[in-house]
Amino acid sequence: PVTSWPHVFSPGEAGSPVLLMLHGTGGNEHEIAALAAELHPDAGVLAPRGQVQEHGMLRWFRRHGEGNFDVDDVIARAADLAAFLDAAREHYNLGNRPVIAVGFSNGANIGLATAILHPKTLDRVIAFSGMYPFGDREGAADLVGSRLLILNGEADSMAPLTSVNTLMAALRQNGAEAEQVLRPGGHGIAHTDLDAAKEWLATVL
Ligand code: MLT
Repeated sequence: PVTSWPHVFSPGEAGSPVLLMLHGTGGNEHEIAALAAELHPDAGVLAPRGQVQEHGMLRWFRRHGEGNFDVDDVIARAADLAAFLDAAREHYNLGNRPVIAVGFSNGANIGLATAILHPKTLDRVIAFSGMYPFGDREGAADLVGSRLLILNGEADSMAPLTSVNTLMAALRQNGAEAEQVLRPGGHGIAHTDLDAAKEWLATVL
């Protein structure tokens, strides 16, 4: 699935981490790939394109309305992304280089779903303005050894705190090491979020 799935790849320095960059709704792989250098100047970059369209905007999974996800589709698309990542690891000879997903909004949500359902494939995530991706369903594997950084605005109507709290509880109950950063404001990536992400990244490498 690597060559048939549009994506950006740049190898970065040998031995450096690879950042799996996941764009938000209406974004694209090029725009989010550009953010990688702000987190780690030497990292490899792998940025696939969301495979769902909503009114012409690219996304990662279908939804019935804002915050009302098609959970079956979330689960199916997370499996697709895990398969892509496994194939890309081989295709690009990434060996044992650490892969860290970095997602914004809808991209954070698919990164979280993938890490929760496929921890052997993906066990490091930075989630900007993400939320619990499985609606009212429970779903998690054993997440011992997984490390996630969850960054949100306290007043984010698109990623409400109740859902973020559900996410944190689910991650921790299943053994993940999940760190939370809450800042004032709403949906987006603040400079303080980028600083926190850079610091966190240095601790997981
Ligand atoms: C989602 O659909 O994943 C969230 O509502 C965030 C977004 O609008 O992309």
